[in-house]
Amino acid sequence: MKRYEDLAEHVASLIANGALRPGDRLPSVRELRRDRGVSPATVTHAYQLLEARGLIETRPQSGHYVSDRLEPRPAAASRARSARATKVDVSELVFEILDSVREHRVVPFGSAFPSPMLFPWRTLARHLGGAARKMNPWSTVESLPPGSLELRRQIARRYLRFGGRVLPDEIVITNGAMEALHLSLQSLTKPGDAVAIESPSFYACLQAVESLGLKAVEIPTHPREGVELGPLERAIDTHKVRACWFMTSFQNPLGATMPDEKKRDLVRLLASRDVPLIEDDVYSELYFGSRRPRAAKSFDDRGIVLHCGSFSKCLAPGYRLGWVAAGRFARDVQRRKVMTSLATSIPVQDAIADVLRHETYDAHLKKLRGALAAQQQSLLASVRRHFPGHRVTEPEGGYFVWLELPHGVDSLDLHRRALKHGISIAPGPIFSPRREYRNCVRLNYGHPWSAQLDQAVRQIARLSSAL
Ligand SMILES: Cc1ncc(COP(=O)(O)O)c(C=O)c1O
Repeated sequence: MKRYEDLAEHVASLIANGALRPGDRLPSVRELRRDRGVSPATVTHAYQLLEARGLIETRPQSGHYVSDRLEPRPAAASRARSARATKVDVSELVFEILDSVREHRVVPFGSAFPSPMLFPWRTLARHLGGAARKMNPWSTVESLPPGSLELRRQIARRYLRFGGRVLPDEIVITNGAMEALHLSLQSLTKPGDAVAIESPSFYACLQAVESLGLKAVEIPTHPREGVELGPLERAIDTHKVRACWFMTSFQNPLGATMPDEKKRDLVRLLASRDVPLIEDDVYSELYFGSRRPRAAKSFDDRGIVLHCGSFSKCLAPGYRLGWVAAGRFARDVQRRKVMTSLATSIPVQDAIADVLRHETYDAHLKKLRGALAAQQQSLLASVRRHFPGHRVTEPEGGYFVWLELPHGVDSLDLHRRALKHGISIAPGPIFSPRREYRNCVRLNYGHPWSAQLDQAVRQIARLSSAL
């Protein structure tokens, strides 16, 4: 299928499915060109094709709309379509470190969160209040898993812009990405199975692997380009890997982003071995370049990628709203959701659907990305000043850098000493089942830059050189 035909098919299926309804505005040619990385001609051809089929219409000076002459579709029924293996034991260490960074007077370089002051609380409160007032009592029943149809429609529309043929049917709304990731992992594995993970990897991934009694097969991960495919292929063949859990964009803790080609090759490799991918993609809205990185999901035509997203990092921390586009595993994930937490808060789902519908989301994201990009530059300048000659990553999005200290510096020791000075850092060993990366730290730049933060970097450098 040609690119424009593929795009036209995607739009047509969103219309058939009811995610796009008569009168709805379609993304502009400029938006799709930028966000999907296709040429204007591809979008124009796709829209011409849809217009010829009577599905959409062009309104002069205004854009493209789903044709008003179409019969509105009934709501879609919630039919869900369908190295070395190491035992993991990091929880104690992770909890010890997380407890120490909760206190908000502590300098938050070790925190997993961006500053809460970067989010549109008033707008969210207005939508949440409105959602609670307008709440249909029957939605407590109708919005049981897979979740609010309106929210799933809005999420499916964002996939249209950023690539990936995802329809509302395969989306399951969850309590944050964390639940989406756990449900996905449960769906794909049983105790004792081997799961391929990145090295270093997000500690909550290690905790999930640990709590389900799985074995971690660590795959070397390049600090800029993500998981290495050669070692992954060998690991799959050697260890009977049942699933992979990777962050393909702005990986936590390295900040690595796989180039598009590599994402395509990853999906091809996994499809050839029939190994599903849990794609943890909670940071991709926080890009600093000209367009959002594509998800590996956008290369998946076999339903093997379970793409987990969230609003926690980019719109509404604390609302605990995430989702998984679970491909052919959607029905199983949905059932596990019912068994685990029954449902996700209905007013919260309605409020976020409302924010997405009213298009304030993109304006907020633009501001947020600008703030994070500037903060990254300030942190990097400070790190380069106080740690001259040290290696540090410079991610193209997200809010973490990974700093390599000289061999022999123990970051766990450094963490304890820095804490005595009111400064937190995230030491390397919490990102490894074998407690490697002892001389590395993850630093958070999600907070507005200040002279106090620069002093804190200087203090860490002094403590580090004394070790
Ligand atoms: C890589 C990664 N995945 C998932 C999550 C969890 O997201 P949520 O807050 O939506 O559960 C986090 C949060 O720190 C994260 O860093």
